[in-house]
Amino acid sequence: MGPINNHPPDETTRKESIMHDSILLEGINEVIGTTHMNAAPMGVILRGGRYTLALFKGSHTAENIIRDGWFVANLIHDPVIYVESAFGDLPDDAFTTETIDGTPMHRLATAEAWVAFRAEVIGESGEAYSILLTPLQEEVIVRSIRPVNRGFNAIIEAAVHTTRYIMNHDPKLEWLIRHHLALARKCGGEREKEAAGMIEELLK
Ligand SMILES: Cc1cc2nc3c(=O)[nH]c(=O)nc-3n(C[C@H](O)[C@H](O)[C@H](O)COP(=O)(O)O)c2cc1C
Repeated sequence: MGPINNHPPDETTRKESIMHDSILLEGINEVIGTTHMNAAPMGVILRGGRYTLALFKGSHTAENIIRDGWFVANLIHDPVIYVESAFGDLPDDAFTTETIDGTPMHRLATAEAWVAFRAEVIGESGEAYSILLTPLQEEVIVRSIRPVNRGFNAIIEAAVHTTRYIMNHDPKLEWLIRHHLALARKCGGEREKEAAGMIEELLK
């Protein structure tokens, strides 16, 4: 091992660490988005320091964001919560309230970390809104080490494809979903297996 460098970081390193000092990372962060007593998986896009959401019209999340102007990104690693919140409703006691700048906002009670955002529409197409997210407050509640698990990732893939499959019953999507369910069962733990069973029910 080389000598330990106790010098304070120079200005370049310091700026870099500030830029990266956030819970969410560059790219698309597949979080559980909470709005007024509602939860659904959502992809928060972080590019060049700017947070946005591509938000399809017709969901409760879209309705609530347009009405209330806030959104909370919840980080959690339970695949069952992803499936339950994508295809059904979580019970009321799944939520807790944070008051941010005088506004009560709901987040998941079991979130490992969360970021609360102001949310405003900056674009609109026939089927989706483009939402600009401005971070207001964030908290890390549980600092956990998560080994990469293909089973968990496979549930996320299967869930994304299933949101489309239930609308169009495309056999190519069904093939993809079953491929990911097999992976989830092979590589995942008990919660991945439970989530896989829930998705399989939706294919019937
Ligand atoms: C991993 C994952 C990511 C998703 N990302 C988005 C997204 O970025 N934008 C969106 O509009 N829907 C997204 N969805 C679909 C919504 O979660 C889905 O339409 C959900 O039923 C909406 O629930 P709600 O009516 O309670 O808001 C995603 C689904 C999954 C499984």
